[in-house]
Amino acid sequence: MNLALRVGSRRPDGFHPLTTLFFALSIFDRVSVENADEFSVTSNHAGVPVDESNLVVRAAQALNKIAGTHNKASIHIDKQIPIAGGMAGGSADGAAALVALNELWGLGLGYDDLHTLAADLGSDVPFALHGGLALGTSRGEELTPVECGADLTWVLVRDRRGLSTPAVFRQYDQMFPDPHEPASVDVLLSALKTGDPHEIGPLLANDLAPAAFELRPDIADKYEALKDRGVATILSGSGPTLAILAESTRAGHDLAGALWTEGHHVICASGPVPGAVVEK
Ligand code: C5P
Repeated sequence: MNLALRVGSRRPDGFHPLTTLFFALSIFDRVSVENADEFSVTSNHAGVPVDESNLVVRAAQALNKIAGTHNKASIHIDKQIPIAGGMAGGSADGAAALVALNELWGLGLGYDDLHTLAADLGSDVPFALHGGLALGTSRGEELTPVECGADLTWVLVRDRRGLSTPAVFRQYDQMFPDPHEPASVDVLLSALKTGDPHEIGPLLANDLAPAAFELRPDIADKYEALKDRGVATILSGSGPTLAILAESTRAGHDLAGALWTEGHHVICASGPVPGAVVEK
């Protein structure tokens, strides 16, 4: 998720300059890879695309291209991260495929090579590789790691319907057509050093929220209804998931339980946690 997502006006290449603080949460997909005679992608979740629109396929192609190989694999995605939820789950799977296939195929690519491939796959993929807490600039792919003094607990409120990231950015352009640079996140960076949710909460910001709320008034209503339930509430990425910052782990679990009882689809998560890791 993004603790801050500050957006500038559209660049000539169609992307938007960002100043963002990426924060890796403890919600994981598991991407399993095995050598095979034919390339295949499967998932436990019917909503996961198994064609080239899935970043795991593009990650495999990119690795074969850079290594000059024609390796094949069967890839299984155990999906836990909400799909089209504004939580970069597809990017996480792309990053996972890069590290897993690099290992399976013995390509020996280092972190810098994988980072370059990740940036080609998508703006959020380098951070999914990296994890932790990082400042993202340019279209989000340029990262500066940030030391985090905080261990933050979040209650994520999901929605049944997804939201398209390009559609939210298009709506943003319509609503904010004047040329502008993304705002700074320096004050939030200082607050993060304290590790205190009450210092951090008021500084969380997402410039895409007005656009997402315009496209989905039901999410705006949900935001209004939930915004005082924790220390602070923000839209996650381009939405529609809402992220509520809790005062403590205990408070997060209690709030998640209460919201669940009220009929919300919630996940409790904390961070920062590492990015894509290989398990054998
Ligand atoms: O980089 P990625 O493929 O994840 O971006 C998906 C879409 O989100 C882009 O096609 C673009 O419409 C929008 N986007 C943007 N500016 C960014 C990142 C993404 O406009 N910095």
